[in-house]
Amino acid sequence: MKTRLLATALALPLVLALHAAPLMAQQAPIVIKFSHVVTSNTPKGKAADRFKELAEKATHGRVKVEVYPNSTLYKDKEEVEALQLGAVQMLAPSMAKFGPLGAKEFEVFDLPYIFPNRAVLSRVTEGPIGQGLLKKLEPKGIIGLAFWDNGFKVMTANRPMHKVADFKGLKMRIQSSKVLDEQFRALGANPQVLAFSDVYQALQTGVVDGSENTSSNIYTQKMNEVQSNLTVSDHGYIGYAVIVNKKFWDSLPADIRTQLEGAMKEATRYANVIAQKENDDALAAIKATGKTNVYYLTEQEKLEWRRALMPVRKAMEARVGKALIESIDKESAALGIKN
Ligand code: LMR
Repeated sequence: MKTRLLATALALPLVLALHAAPLMAQQAPIVIKFSHVVTSNTPKGKAADRFKELAEKATHGRVKVEVYPNSTLYKDKEEVEALQLGAVQMLAPSMAKFGPLGAKEFEVFDLPYIFPNRAVLSRVTEGPIGQGLLKKLEPKGIIGLAFWDNGFKVMTANRPMHKVADFKGLKMRIQSSKVLDEQFRALGANPQVLAFSDVYQALQTGVVDGSENTSSNIYTQKMNEVQSNLTVSDHGYIGYAVIVNKKFWDSLPADIRTQLEGAMKEATRYANVIAQKENDDALAAIKATGKTNVYYLTEQEKLEWRRALMPVRKAMEARVGKALIESIDKESAALGIKN
């Protein structure tokens, strides 16, 4: 009798474990739907996939990240609405798309020549200015987790764009940013807001004549196939803020949130390391097709563009904040650059 009792007692943990295992396996993972509008082989696409891999590993499968690239789930405007409604949990819209969230300060990133180089950009996104911007999202029910880099923009159209006068009357696609609207007006062009997923067709059918974007975005959407001219102008920048629905984020168990924060940190490091090369490779691939004429502005032309575009800052001060612009210029000054 005693031996039987002992045997039962010894077997008990095993029996419990056997019962618990299927129970744990049955527990549904927490799902993070991460929607974005670019292809998987862009800086943002690769970083989103890397975050998925890291997050699932760090949480031992308790979190499942479903990445929906290339506007397969939502286009620009819809994805922001979906995040607010909780239909998706994570996005990384470009900073030009935060106006509808009531965070128009993010459009400071769209100001022409605001970042003389990537070093200034990093000081902004990784320092107190970036943190301050992300904090502004909280009252809107959104948590800003990180900034992901893409790169400096080029111009494309079916005509050479060397001088400011070359833009006269051109219909140029823009992202939904007032700063970008003002930028193209300053060049004498007609800006038109279009969702990213509609740009290729709009260029092909002549709904618009041209656009500005990073080389990686242009090449992966095949926009270069319907644009005969590309000007490397470095007049502006595209980057992203990774955002999550606050209610969802706050509802996560603390240990999971910490693991996800770790995965995000790592994915951010990765994103910011690959961005420049991704864009350099894309530009080289566009050149290699031999179908798009790639032009680099001369110093004289750069000066003329700058003269035409610098007034955009003053015009947009009231929208993005004079103090914010000045604080970014201070970061340039700290590196010895007068902007
Ligand atoms: C665009 O709409 O042009 C881009 O910002 C898309 C993106 O997410 O890079």
